[in-house]
Parts: sequence; structure tokens; C-alpha cells
Amino acid sequence: MKSKQISKTAAYVAIKFYGLTLIKPYRELFDKEVITFYDRLVGGLPAPLNNYHSLLKKKWFRSACMNLDELLLPGDLMHILMRKLYIKPMIGRLIAKGYTQILILGAGFDHIGKTYSQSGVTCIELDTAPMTHIKQHFLDQHGYSNNHLTVYPADLGERSLSDILPEIPKLDPNAATVAVAEGFFDYLSPENFSRTLNELSEFFNNELKLVSTVFSLQKLNPFHAFVFRNAVRAVGERLELYATLDNFKDFLVKNNFKIDQDLTAYEMRDGITVPKDFEMAVLPGFYLLEASRNK
Ligand SMILES: C[S@@+](CC[C@H](N)C(=O)[O-])C[C@H]1O[C@@H](n2cnc3c(N)ncnc32)[C@H](O)[C@@H]1O
Repeated sequence: MKSKQISKTAAYVAIKFYGLTLIKPYRELFDKEVITFYDRLVGGLPAPLNNYHSLLKKKWFRSACMNLDELLLPGDLMHILMRKLYIKPMIGRLIAKGYTQILILGAGFDHIGKTYSQSGVTCIELDTAPMTHIKQHFLDQHGYSNNHLTVYPADLGERSLSDILPEIPKLDPNAATVAVAEGFFDYLSPENFSRTLNELSEFFNNELKLVSTVFSLQKLNPFHAFVFRNAVRAVGERLELYATLDNFKDFLVKNNFKIDQDLTAYEMRDGITVPKDFEMAVLPGFYLLEASRNK
């Protein structure tokens, strides 16, 4: 991605999620504060992306978008619903166990920092400067900014975490920390991914957990894998990692992490109850993974 631009993939994650929350059985899976956050966010995106805010309220437009998305990449929409639904309680469980800090890599337009900072957890969001600029403005505008939330510009393609993390005044290397990478590591080269894991592991002195999405495109049929890659390329961004779940775990293990759990898309889907008419395809190769840094 050219770091002068906002991330369209981040914008489309928010737009697709917003569109899904306009549909009652999906909306009912989420707290009102989450729905309101994305409603305000999509309405405040730079033009022309903000047009989706009103267009998606029209049933015919929403159905056309959903049918096209499901045709080109079945499971794409469901995977967005699932990541928004499952990551928050995964983090919540760790906070309840005593983790006091959350570092969100490639935070984009997500609501994790806003949600947990409001309950007193230190949250640090990292993303490129154009993204943090818009996010900060949005948070300020809606009264979401608070003392526990830092939105920090950092391009991990240009600088390494070991240079960036010590600069962030509110980030405590001695706090038990959850690092979150939702739809982020795929944008790093394998070398950068490995270095980033190593630098995370080296920086934090206390307990460290990692919660990450994994996209194993090898599990998709060749056409759907082509659509996945090229949809990202079409908006000027580039996936670089292309790891299978086993490769991804190997990177973690080689960088001093142990795998605590991996949830498959099918397991996540089975935990969601929606009326039959609203069931959607599942994206094969999508996982949520939790790992701990070895002591
Ligand atoms: C697919 S979006 C996911 C956003 C958010 N985590 C979510 O799931 O809604 C990927 C995010 O990673 C960010 N990103 C990509 N490459 C990056 C880099 N080299 N340094 C910092 N952020 C990066 C993008 O700006 C974007 O916000």
C-alpha cells in the first residue's frame, strides 16, 4: 500500500460490516455501541466511500452488493461478521485474566481500542499516518477519545517495531499485553512478519499474548484465491505473506510463541445462530489464532 493513502481494504471491512448490521438477525449478534460506532464511522469516511452509508440502507442496493460479493468470493461477508464477533470476547477473556494493555497492529477503522480503552485498559493503535489521522479525527469528533487510547502513526513497512514501540509514551513494556493483528500480517513480507514477531517478543517483559487472523488462501479454489488477491490489488494494496496455517504457526514457534488455540471458520460459524434464510457461505482457510510468548 502507498502509505500516503488511506487503506481501502480497512474501509471496506468497515463498510461491509456496517451493511451486515443493517440486517436484523446479524445486527442482533452485536452490542448497540458497536453498531453505532460503525454507523458513525461509515458516514464519516472520505467521499465517495461515505456514499455507502445511505446506499446500503436501500435493500435493493445492499442485496445487489451482497449477491456480487458472495458470487465472487463466497464466505467473505461471513468472515467479516465472524472476526468482529469472535475477537472481542477473545480479548475480553484475557483482560479478565489480568492483561492490562492492548497493542493493535494495523488497527484500521476497528472498534477494539475504543471499546477497551473506555473500560480503563491501555490501548495503543498502530497504523499508517493517513489512517491514524482520519481515525483520530473520528474518535475526537464522537467523544471516543480518552486518556487510555493512543492512536500512533507507524508504517511497519518503513520502520521496525523495535524503533517504534519505545517512542510511544503510554506503552508500558512491563504490562501484561495482548497484541492484536486483525487482517494485518498478510500485508507484511515473510521476513518482516518474522522480524515483527521477534521484536514483539523482545520488547515486552511481562506476559504477552497474540490474537491474529490467518488467511490460508491455499484452501480456496484457484478462482476464489485469485479474486481475494486481486480485490486487494484493485484498491492499490498488496498481500505479501501467503502463509498456510501451518506456515503461520511455524513463524510463531520459531519466534518464541506457542499456539494456544486456532478456531476454524467452520467452528466460528457453528457458534452463530441466525435464521436459515440468513445463513451464508463460510470462507475456507480463515482462522482466528491465539498464541502466547514463551517465558
Ligand atoms: C485489512 S485492513 C484491517 C483493518 C482492521 N484491523 C480491521 O480488521 O478492521 C489492514 C490494515 O493494516 C494497515 N497496514 C497495512 N500495511 C501496514 C503497514 N506496513 N504498517 C502499518 N499498517 C499497515 C492498513 O492501513 C489497514 O488499516
